[in-house]
Amino acid sequence: MRNESSLIRRHSLPYRTAYEVYAASVWLFASAYMAYLHAQHVMPREMSALLYIVCIVFAVKRGHEGWLILRDRSLLSGRRFELMPRSKLQTLMRPDYLWLGYGFVWEPKHTQKLHELSRINPASLMLPDFMHRFFGRGDQYQKNEEIGMPYIHGLEPNEIELHRFLKNFEGGTLILGTTQAGKGIALCNLFSQAVLRNDVVIFIDPKGSPRVYESFRRACTAAGRGEPLNYHPGNRDKTKGIRLDPLATFSTGAQIATRIMSVIPGKPDAFTQFAWSCIKTFADALIELKIKPSLKLLSKHINHGIDDLLRDLLLDRIEHFASENWREEARSFMAPIKEGRLTESQEELLLMVSFYEHVLDKKQQTLVVDECLKVFHHSKEHYAKITASLMPIFAMLTSGPLGDSFSPDPKDAADSRPIWNLESIILTRSCLYCHLDSLSDNMIASAVGSILLGDLVGVAGKRYNLGKTDIRISLFVDEASNVCNNPLIEILNKGAEGGIYTTVAMQTIADLALRLGSQDAARMVLGNCNNLIALRCKDRPTQDFVTETFGKTYIHQVDTTLSTHADTHAGLPSFEGGASHKRTAVREEIIPSEYLGKLPNGQFFAFVGGGHLLKGRVPVITD
Ligand SMILES: Nc1ncnc2c1ncn2[C@@H]1O[C@H](COP(=O)(O)OP(=O)(O)OP(=O)(O)O)[C@@H](O)[C@H]1O
Ligand SMILES: [Mg+2]
Repeated sequence: MRNESSLIRRHSLPYRTAYEVYAASVWLFASAYMAYLHAQHVMPREMSALLYIVCIVFAVKRGHEGWLILRDRSLLSGRRFELMPRSKLQTLMRPDYLWLGYGFVWEPKHTQKLHELSRINPASLMLPDFMHRFFGRGDQYQKNEEIGMPYIHGLEPNEIELHRFLKNFEGGTLILGTTQAGKGIALCNLFSQAVLRNDVVIFIDPKGSPRVYESFRRACTAAGRGEPLNYHPGNRDKTKGIRLDPLATFSTGAQIATRIMSVIPGKPDAFTQFAWSCIKTFADALIELKIKPSLKLLSKHINHGIDDLLRDLLLDRIEHFASENWREEARSFMAPIKEGRLTESQEELLLMVSFYEHVLDKKQQTLVVDECLKVFHHSKEHYAKITASLMPIFAMLTSGPLGDSFSPDPKDAADSRPIWNLESIILTRSCLYCHLDSLSDNMIASAVGSILLGDLVGVAGKRYNLGKTDIRISLFVDEASNVCNNPLIEILNKGAEGGIYTTVAMQTIADLALRLGSQDAARMVLGNCNNLIALRCKDRPTQDFVTETFGKTYIHQVDTTLSTHADTHAGLPSFEGGASHKRTAVREEIIPSEYLGKLPNGQFFAFVGGGHLLKGRVPVITD
């Protein structure tokens, strides 16, 4: 059907010299000549009037056709990079809809026009600057100094406001674009609307762009939501910004372990599994002792070993369930210890362990203590190896200014920064901006971002289990390839159920493949995003991913053959000529990949709401 419809589609060549204008001039001249003949009494009045009207009608008709050709050629100069006041955004927003920018719905006819243009040099068709004024585009066209090919946005004369139903964005939105293509601009537009909608807005910015932060701050203040919460892991000033507790929300030690292990990207292996169970045991032990786990505390205990926590846990058992002579009872199960081999406290601990394992009633034994005992009895060398590999992660997360801001101590009087956690941010409907400063330390930025995303999964899961999905959480992750981890994949997969609307921006698939270990893994993650906004993309794998998502269409191709033939066999020269047109339909990418690399700044193709293909441009919000 589509094949046929592409042949039925009117085939015109809008991009050419406007010959109609010449014809219109001739008709106009003819009409003037008719008027002259009448004035000279050469022609009867009725006759000249009739011919005059005919000439004028044809002059208008041909003039209009020529005007349309010239207008289409003016449109080839595209739209300039536009600045827009924030107040305008409010007028463009509609309840329950997301405004994506200005543009048009991309149809097969636009692909056809692109193919026509690819056969000629579009620059040769562009009008001189002064002519754009005739079409009301005096200052709208793209200036020569701007990046990108202007004609892509000029394929459609009627630009509209692009709105899509907000629910379409539940399944995650991916913004792809090379550096300086306009990811920041697109994100500013989307988060400004989220702020105005009164969503909880969380922006994770690994690079820490001051321009984007300023825009975020202004969006919050202009919407009457006050200054946003500002988290910066490298902040040494204990009076500015906030402290964040990423381990505040948990129900089990396993969640804490998962959150911390999310720092390590890739598939779990034997090492990560053992490290996970090790962190889980320590976290569970702290929880059992009614001590809130923090990164610093976990780091300290994992470094020192399980002995201290185990001793406290066993003391609790002994206090509650041991008889006066528990030591004697416990000692009877132990082999004699050589004098001086162990310190007094080590000997005492062994005694306690023996009491727990051999004397204490099985009903009084707990899973947490059992787990701690496994670590206690584990080969010390192997345990040391595992913890030696975990320690750099903890050292990274707990040393320097990050130690104070990421493992906040409420008793630290010298630190006046308020302590927040993601749950309290969601409950108070606040806006959070996290600069991760990846330019100064990529490892720390990536680790902090990963843990925060892990925390968000925990909070969203908890809210979902409690049936609290009334608050919409808009999560934005810029340079997502720096922080992509299992929690982010989970948020993209299931976040919508917990009320999280996620938008991730990144430059290339190759960056993500590097982090996740393979191109397939990267594609799998990106495949989880229901919506795609493609800005200028330069590298081939990214372009291929985008064009595959957009799909194909039929375009028609006209092959023209001209032939001449001269023959002298009859003694007289004889000439023959022929012309043939062959029109065929070919299936092509609806947006040829090379045009993705030619988009001007802030212009995009969007695949939203399960198949709606849009061409748009998003202005920069200036104040
Ligand atoms: N407020 C503004 N005023 C003027 N120009 C701007 C403004 N914000 C962005 N731009 C311009 O828009 C273009 C895109 O900038 P943007 O920050 O969106 O890039 P990006 O895709 O996020 O790049 P990167 O990957 O380097 O972060 C740049 O040329 C930039 O100079
Ligand atoms: Mg950016």
